[in-house]
Amino acid sequence: MVEKVIPIRLDEGKGLVPSIPNQLRAANDLTTDTRGRPLRDLRISVTDRCNFRCTYCMPKEVFDQNYPYLSQKELLSFEEITRLSSIFATLGVEKIRLTGGEPLLRKNLEILVEMLAKIRTIDGNPLDLTLTTNGSVLRKKAAALKAAGLHRLTISLDGLNDDIFKKMNDVDFPVTDVLDGIAAAQEAGFTNLKVNMVVKKGTNDQEIIAMAKHFKGSGITLRFIEFMDVGSSNGWDMSQVLPSQEVANRINEFFPIEPIEANYAGEVAQRWRYLDGSGEIGFISSVTQTFCHECTRARISTDGQLYLCLFANSGFDFKTLLRSGKSDLEIANAVMSTWAARDDHYSEIRGSNTVKTSDTRKVEMSYIGG
Ligand code: GTP
Ligand code: 5AD
Ligand code: SF4
Ligand code: SF4
Repeated sequence: MVEKVIPIRLDEGKGLVPSIPNQLRAANDLTTDTRGRPLRDLRISVTDRCNFRCTYCMPKEVFDQNYPYLSQKELLSFEEITRLSSIFATLGVEKIRLTGGEPLLRKNLEILVEMLAKIRTIDGNPLDLTLTTNGSVLRKKAAALKAAGLHRLTISLDGLNDDIFKKMNDVDFPVTDVLDGIAAAQEAGFTNLKVNMVVKKGTNDQEIIAMAKHFKGSGITLRFIEFMDVGSSNGWDMSQVLPSQEVANRINEFFPIEPIEANYAGEVAQRWRYLDGSGEIGFISSVTQTFCHECTRARISTDGQLYLCLFANSGFDFKTLLRSGKSDLEIANAVMSTWAARDDHYSEIRGSNTVKTSDTRKVEMSYIGG
């Protein structure tokens, strides 16, 4: 039984309105944080709602009909998201990922995609614009998202066996519909598709080989994610984590693999390839092999709070700032000084004696996105 939690956004989640420095700097006077990490990626949650109840993310017992989801007026509007994203682009952000909850539940999301696709990086290039989805409504949305200028898509799928997948999504959603969503994305012209599988030991780890076999040679990159202690409600404990190394060993017994170079500095997934040349897979090992030292990610919650870490328990209230008549340069400076003070490195200190993680209330993942 998962313990009922009070949603963090109602109390300590709403952060301070960041202050604007007296001396304004040019936006492209780039800032690194206290650990020397630049700001490169922005992940934006466009809705705190989802039609799934994955036990590791939005357990039914907590996210029930009484859960206080945000109201429409509390959400950042598409105009506000676009303005904030443009400001972040002037500060060095090159990649934007739309997340949720389930981002495709936000009405007319393709319009937001179209707006974001017009933004340019400091070097004058389009952003790497991508989205993480559970695939449930992709059949309906894929073509419109492609036409709007979305570059890439990542789909979550935790197994191919219906009973096991339904146990993970906890709403009886069938595997075939997600596979059909993936097919729709391919038909719409998306290449570079990725599939994310969260591995929970004892729940879906028996699906690892079937998943590897299914996506091997398909051109789709399957990534295995260690079950994490995000949020305060998923009942995490270390005994349910299957270390990536063990996943790799199991796959290697059936299909020999070897590690390959990262695509870019700070890539979350470790890449491996099949020795027979039939493609690559990835491992995201945020529990057993932490990657905080090169974490360049900022997150905007559904209601416009800036979070500096997936495991933070409060954000900075940029929505209030956006609605206060400040200029883009003033807001850019507020971001710069917030980022300059960043020291977050939660995964590195998880389980250390100085942090008792079970006592630490953290923001829910559905509110700031994976
Ligand atoms: P690419 O742009 O395709 O490289 O995507 P990505 O790997 O950066 O993003 P994706 O959303 O696919 O990340 C997959 C999963 O990795 C997320 O759902 C999280 O579970 C985990 N993850 C991503 N970023 C972080 C992070 O900053 N910290 C931790 N601890 N986990 C992360
Ligand atoms: N552990 C690991 N990944 C998680 N996600 C959500 N909750 C967790 C968790 N507890 C990630 C998964 C999912 C995406 C939307 O968020 O990758 O596919
Ligand atoms: Fe929804 Fe994704 Fe969370 Fe599952 S992991 S409940 S699909 S937001
Ligand atoms: Fe970045 Fe926080 Fe994840 Fe570390 S735990 S990689 S600092 S988001």
